[in-house]
Amino acid sequence: MVNPTLILGLESSCDDTAAALLRWEEGAAPQVLSSVVVGQDAAHAPYGGVVPEIAARAHASRLDSVVEKAFSEAKLSPGEVDLIAATAGPGLIGGVMSGLTFAKGLSLGLGVPLVPVNHLAGHALSVFLEQDVPFPYLLLLVSGGHTQLLLVESVTQFRRLGTTIDDAAGEAFDKTAKLLGLEGAGGPAIEALAKDGDAVGVELPRPLLGRAGCDFSFSGLKTAVRQRVEKGDASAADVAASFQGAAVGHLLTRTERAMTQLAEEGAGARHLVAAGGVAANMTLRAGLEGIAAHHGWGLTVPPLRYCTDNAAMIAYAGAAMVRAGVGPTPEEAMGLAPRARWPLDDTTNATTLGAGRKGRKV
Ligand code: KG4
Ligand code: ZN
Repeated sequence: MVNPTLILGLESSCDDTAAALLRWEEGAAPQVLSSVVVGQDAAHAPYGGVVPEIAARAHASRLDSVVEKAFSEAKLSPGEVDLIAATAGPGLIGGVMSGLTFAKGLSLGLGVPLVPVNHLAGHALSVFLEQDVPFPYLLLLVSGGHTQLLLVESVTQFRRLGTTIDDAAGEAFDKTAKLLGLEGAGGPAIEALAKDGDAVGVELPRPLLGRAGCDFSFSGLKTAVRQRVEKGDASAADVAASFQGAAVGHLLTRTERAMTQLAEEGAGARHLVAAGGVAANMTLRAGLEGIAAHHGWGLTVPPLRYCTDNAAMIAYAGAAMVRAGVGPTPEEAMGLAPRARWPLDDTTNATTLGAGRKGRKV
């Protein structure tokens, strides 16, 4: 396949339906022409969490209008696209199925090749939408569904250094917000309330203290917060500030450990990248700046619109795969099944799509 220059990206793995158009000329920086993201908060609100069936139906009914909007914002027509990149997993299977099936139909109808993309590869490479960073780099991916430390060696090679053994970081923020009865998105609500609280006002456990490796755990913290809220003797602001301090402290400790491990191995990584919705957190950002400066590493945190789920990162990752000459043939792509589970370091080549061993939190 010749290098694609106009790429349509599609994303539907969780509760955001997204489409984006990316122009990426040979020898030039990629340019996001449009990036449309339609959330489903209202549809899931009555249930206190994302309901997979509702999500799948919402994606199926919105994909065409979201794609149309991406084209109209970019002032382009579908006939001009030369690659379609769609999330093929990991994620909620109904949503992934909706998006991938839509992409296959579009690919057949337009006669344009389709490349299936691992959602995590999209996050891992999203930094390139705004800035060039040197390989290999260490990625801290922290969102509502994922908490991972990855060594990104190339656009197709990833080594997982750590993952959560229970809840994702964003999930812990969301559950804490719910316990405190906060309205709206959990992470930002905790961050706002924490400003009025004392970060050491409520004693909380330090997860995996003394445990070797770079894995994460948030369930002990969540339980301790629940017990403290039930006891009713601490202010909500102090609970929020203390939780945020403990969660961010844990993320920073494990990230720093991964940096030390990579330095000891002589892996050559000197740059840290953060991605995922939790990377919006200012306490985390300040902490990352601190450890990067301390170790003499570079740090890049992409703008929030590329940290959270979006289709521009999927378009970029798909095009990068095609440029690197990996991935399935157009015929194979048509036959690929969506994957609920698809660990990133398990698969450097989308032709090996098959049954995954681990879930989207890993
Ligand atoms: O990447 P994202 O939009 O969706 C996926 O989960 O894939 O991340 C959403 C998560 C939510 O759990 C949300 O509470 C968290 O990111 N988040 C934050 C902040 N903003 C969003 N967590 C902490 N502080 C924030 N400012
Ligand atoms: Zn995501």
